[in-house]
Amino acid sequence: MARPFLFGTNFKMNQTPAASAAFYQQLAASVQIRPGTGLFVIPPFTSLGAVTEVAGQPPHRIWVGAQNVHWAPEGAYTGEISVRMLLALGLDLVLLGHAERRQYFHETDVELNRKAQSALEGGLRVLLAVGETAEERSFDVGREIVLRQLKIGLHEVRAEHTELLQIAYEPVWSIGAGGTPAHPEDVSPMAEAIRSGLEALFGERGNQVPILYGGSVDPVNAGTFTALPDIDGLFVGRAAWSVEGFIATYEAGIRGWHGDG
Ligand code: PGA
Repeated sequence: MARPFLFGTNFKMNQTPAASAAFYQQLAASVQIRPGTGLFVIPPFTSLGAVTEVAGQPPHRIWVGAQNVHWAPEGAYTGEISVRMLLALGLDLVLLGHAERRQYFHETDVELNRKAQSALEGGLRVLLAVGETAEERSFDVGREIVLRQLKIGLHEVRAEHTELLQIAYEPVWSIGAGGTPAHPEDVSPMAEAIRSGLEALFGERGNQVPILYGGSVDPVNAGTFTALPDIDGLFVGRAAWSVEGFIATYEAGIRGWHGDG
């Protein structure tokens, strides 16, 4: 079975509810979703209600995701949001383990495993982000780091839940305005390692999990990543924060995926 091509953006700590809803509506009205591909947007928590309102009934044509979740169903966790709360809004997806959450909020792989388990048990799709820092890369342990993140983050995840799972490989050194864009030659062996890691964990089902690339992706370089055999899509920040940029990067990614980038 061919893996789908997935493309989406995370708005990080940007946008009011009105801005996110307007983006979603404009995107839904103007994007042509190509066969075999899926789209998603991940606004901040405070925008989720406004976005799901304009998105209509779930499952949404363009998935709506949250940037984080807590593992407990409810309780004394001030400032946190549970899987139940996200499902009650009709969300399709949750992003876990973004580099900024790992770096600034000290999220550990063990915590991410609890989050992943509770999201998947609840039937919520998980986009698990993994990636090595510049320092780890300088010691040539990127592969080990990413496999460790994968093995702990997905520990005891049931094989049938792989249908709800996607991985984003985002080298930390390539993310954001201060990042150095990665080259496809950097990404290819890491994507291969992730694919092998998924197969070691889940057998043949691991082969069906989409792996997205993220980190300074733009319409110019998008197709160079999606041309790689183990890359099944893109997870984009800045370049996709305008509807035009989102669509241009998606289209460029698809061209690379089809082999005519
Ligand atoms: P960027 O962000 O595309 O702006 O580098 C990527 C990310 O943080 O996922």
